Amino acid sequence: MNPLEVKISKLKLRNPTMLAAGVLGISSSLLERIYKSGAGIVVTKSISKNPIRGNRNPVVYELRYGLLNSIGLSNPGCVEFLKELKELREKNIPVIVSLYGESIDEFKFLAKFFEEYSLAYEINLSCPNVEKGLEFIKDLDSTYNLIKEVKSVTRRPIFVKISATVNDVVELGKTCEEAGADGIVAINTIKAMKIDINFKRPVLGGIFGGLSGEAIKPIAVRCVYELSRELKIPIIGCGGISSGEDAVEFLLAGASAIQVGTAIYKKGEKIFIEICRFILKYLRENGYKSVKEIIGLAHRD
Ligand SMILES: Cc1cc2nc3c(=O)[nH]c(=O)nc-3n(C[C@H](O)[C@H](O)[C@H](O)COP(=O)(O)O)c2cc1C
Repeated sequence: MNPLEVKISKLKLRNPTMLAAGVLGISSSLLERIYKSGAGIVVTKSISKNPIRGNRNPVVYELRYGLLNSIGLSNPGCVEFLKELKELREKNIPVIVSLYGESIDEFKFLAKFFEEYSLAYEINLSCPNVEKGLEFIKDLDSTYNLIKEVKSVTRRPIFVKISATVNDVVELGKTCEEAGADGIVAINTIKAMKIDINFKRPVLGGIFGGLSGEAIKPIAVRCVYELSRELKIPIIGCGGISSGEDAVEFLLAGASAIQVGTAIYKKGEKIFIEICRFILKYLRENGYKSVKEIIGLAHRD
């Protein structure tokens, strides 16, 4: 038995680590490299029906405690991206395609379009860097309708990626669950900004960006904890994970798997093996046989 194996809906992963959407762009060779370096599965950049050019430069700014980006979901559109996906399938690399649409019809189109190539979908309802990025979670009826409609056109599990910047993450999560979502990914970046005091201007071309990395980790842990306490579907934790200790913290909070994004810039792809080794050591030292045994342990009275 592999002590690191987890199951998220119908998906069996060799370990609970995943590459977070978008941080490495769209190239299939990078996704392949991340899988081969030990990630349980890789998530693609969010892909739209038509190409998106993205925001004005500069689009990335490094902070002491994280990263600001306003890349704005720039991607070549679904037809062009399919070439990358075909390469990954030929090499048997397990992939989750992240989808971004501006309407229910666009999301449905994409879910049908990639059906053969994606083991599951991430539905990105939480990008702070595009005009309609957070549109569908502004009201719960829109969220419900979207998920229900997408679910009706695909056999693949769908994981809804949500933002922490809503009134009530639990209410949002429950709405997704009721509409048929197979899991929740929490959280995306958080809208933020940085001003250069010498130039007296915002540093990012797009003025605002999404904050990721260490700074958002406690918010992400809180969201995972709250969601896993109230929902039956699995929660995938994301936000500021940069070590095995961080990963275990999310698992204890109730995440069934975890995603790594910004930390890859600092630590490189070896972070996936590092996290897996730490989890194994943690299991051994604390007397557990499998990672499944520690999921949600922090909820005990
Ligand atoms: C450069 C960059 C690009 C991103 N692109 C996407 C994207 O295309 N789709 C998406 O759902 N999230 C995207 N994200 C958000 C990440 O997947 C993740 O939710 C967030 O960065 C928090 O995790 P982290 O602190 O480990 O980076 C992006 C983040 C960064 C830093």
